Amino acid sequence: MNERTTLVTGGTGGIGAAVAVRLGAGGDRLLIAGRDQARGARVLRDLAGANPRVDHAHVPVDLSLMADTARLADEVASRTSRLDAVVLCAGVFAGAAEWTSEGLERTFALNYLSRFLLLSRLLPLVAAAPSGRVVLVANAGKYGDSLDLDAVLEGRAHPRRHLAAASQFANDLLAVELAARLAGTSVEVTCVFPGVVRTDVFRNARGVPAPLRWVARGVARLVGSEVETAAETPARLAQDPTVGSNGGFYGPGLRPIEVPRRAADPGRRQELWEVSRVLLRPWLSASAEVAS
Ligand SMILES: NC(=O)c1ccc[n+]([C@@H]2O[C@H](COP(=O)([O-])OP(=O)(O)OC[C@H]3O[C@@H](n4cnc5c(N)ncnc54)[C@H](OP(=O)(O)O)[C@@H]3O)[C@@H](O)[C@H]2O)c1
Repeated sequence: MNERTTLVTGGTGGIGAAVAVRLGAGGDRLLIAGRDQARGARVLRDLAGANPRVDHAHVPVDLSLMADTARLADEVASRTSRLDAVVLCAGVFAGAAEWTSEGLERTFALNYLSRFLLLSRLLPLVAAAPSGRVVLVANAGKYGDSLDLDAVLEGRAHPRRHLAAASQFANDLLAVELAARLAGTSVEVTCVFPGVVRTDVFRNARGVPAPLRWVARGVARLVGSEVETAAETPARLAQDPTVGSNGGFYGPGLRPIEVPRRAADPGRRQELWEVSRVLLRPWLSASAEVAS
């Protein structure tokens, strides 16, 4: 079977949907993950329009819940024995802490922990591809280190202003650490800052006062790029094996971003890795030991 298969989380909307459509046009079979059934069906229709012969699928899933994230990993594994790329786009901006039914802070759980869990469980499938790619769509290199790992371990929330920032910086550390662990294998990991993009990310921002959300949305509409433009960098990193290098950070137009020293710090990366494994212990399976 030579058909490429790619998983895109957040493939039901915003940048993720545009990435999925672009990858579909390039020949990949897409598995898209996100909660909204109707929007998922719309993306599948767009994908079928580009290539009706390929059997794309939408897996409805709430990635702020680790049990659901683990179920997604199982479902992906039941559908394919090889993943050519995993593009992680699902994410939110938030201005207030909330707790999931699993006792995890929702923004950190969705923007970071679900990504760690999904990758831990799916890396064997990515390693089975000739040149597997992992692309984390986050804010590559743009945030300082506001991550409070004691708070995360003790079940306390970050201060409001750091809620999203800490989860995005955690993606930077994860990208660099995973790339180091996978060095010399066929799998490469990259991290992307998509720029300011005209999506619903600010309209959906929980805990952010409505006037602020409208201002942010207005700014994005004025100066932001279209999703199709923002999709170029993650899609090319996922699909073109000649593009990108393991552990690299990239911005719009595939512009390389220097990896900040704070994201490359081996002690900090290792610390986050260990905390992640502790928090996710109930959902990590024996097969999740590939890059442990
Ligand atoms: N837009 C920007 O200017 C910008 C800038 C920098 C970084 N980013 C990052 O880019 C990524 C994509 O953002 P976007 O602008 O495309 O956002 P968006 O338009 O709000 O789309 C978010 C996507 O994530 C999914 N999602 C949200 N909550 C989910 C949950 N609990 N479970 C599963 N899926 C969930 C949504 O699908 P459902 O609603 O169907 O679940 C949707 O597909 C995010 O990680 C964001 O931090 C965006």
